[in-house]
Amino acid sequence: MGDVDPDFIQAAEHRPTPHTIEAENIPLIDLSPLKSSSDSNNALAGLVSEIGYACENWGFFQVINHGVPLECREKIESASRKFFALPKEEKRKVTRDEVNPYGYFDTEHTKNVRDWKEVLDFTVQTPTTIPVSHEPDDKRLIQFINQWPKDPPELREACEEYAKEMEKLGFRLLQVIALSLGLKKDRLQGFFEDQTSRIRLNYYPPCPVPHLTLGVGRHKDAGVLTILAQDDVGGLQVKRKSDGEWIFVKPIPNAYIINIGDIIQVWSNDKYESVEHRAMVNYEKARFSIPFFFNPAHYTWVEPLEELINDQNKPKYKVYNWGKFLTTRNHGNFKKLAVENIQI
Ligand code: SIN
Ligand code: FE2
Repeated sequence: MGDVDPDFIQAAEHRPTPHTIEAENIPLIDLSPLKSSSDSNNALAGLVSEIGYACENWGFFQVINHGVPLECREKIESASRKFFALPKEEKRKVTRDEVNPYGYFDTEHTKNVRDWKEVLDFTVQTPTTIPVSHEPDDKRLIQFINQWPKDPPELREACEEYAKEMEKLGFRLLQVIALSLGLKKDRLQGFFEDQTSRIRLNYYPPCPVPHLTLGVGRHKDAGVLTILAQDDVGGLQVKRKSDGEWIFVKPIPNAYIINIGDIIQVWSNDKYESVEHRAMVNYEKARFSIPFFFNPAHYTWVEPLEELINDQNKPKYKVYNWGKFLTTRNHGNFKKLAVENIQI
């Protein structure tokens, strides 16, 4: 283990497996039908069924021809590299604190093991508000604003432009997912009026013991959808639903990886499940990735959608409040209201 802090060391059963299983990858989906005009009803129907299949069987898929300009991605990736190359004392000037969860930090633990990474988080909608408490009469809200580093100077604009593109793609995917569940196209839009979406710049430095650690330990995403840009180093592994095997997601230039979060699992009453994933680190190379977490307004009550439940398919979840989940998670008391805990 050398000089590596034992906080980073995964229990034997959770250490990364070498990625030998490359025959099957997560589904790759071409989003061009979303761009073309009205004569493409068949193409759209095909896309809806491809996305439905991927959501049901994998919880993960990769998209190409998504409409996000390459320059926009290159701009944020380059600014992110410059930011993480700064000395730690510079980066720490924008450290997140107990109250504001947006900023830099390098001490995240997933399942009580420290992640081999540094991150910079920012909210997509500013100011983002969540309640001070969940006492019935307490109407006070906390407002969060982003903490932007001085260097590199272009980082803020790069992040803000990228956020707009991610939102657009998020809404387009949401429509297709709604259709694939047999819902009206715009059924899910309304939950995002005061969205609490965030973007994270991830930096995974080279690691002297990559076989013992993880950049991010196994976890599921709590929100609605995640749209991830990973670089060409690769390291994301997804737990295959059919047999529990960890599948390495091969990097495809300019593609995005989409995954279903816990909220869609609840909305769909388990038709689509939120799937476990983790990120490996690397002995020689630094790795960068950028997830966009598409999350609803804090006042959203999350429960199986009424159109999707009936006598044969009774609700599998009790209603819970997204803002309460966020405050409980972000305010020291890390009591995650994970799907497992709210299952009836
Ligand atoms: C995450 O799931 O939090 C990040 C995954 C990645 O960096 O590939
Ligand atoms: Fe994740």
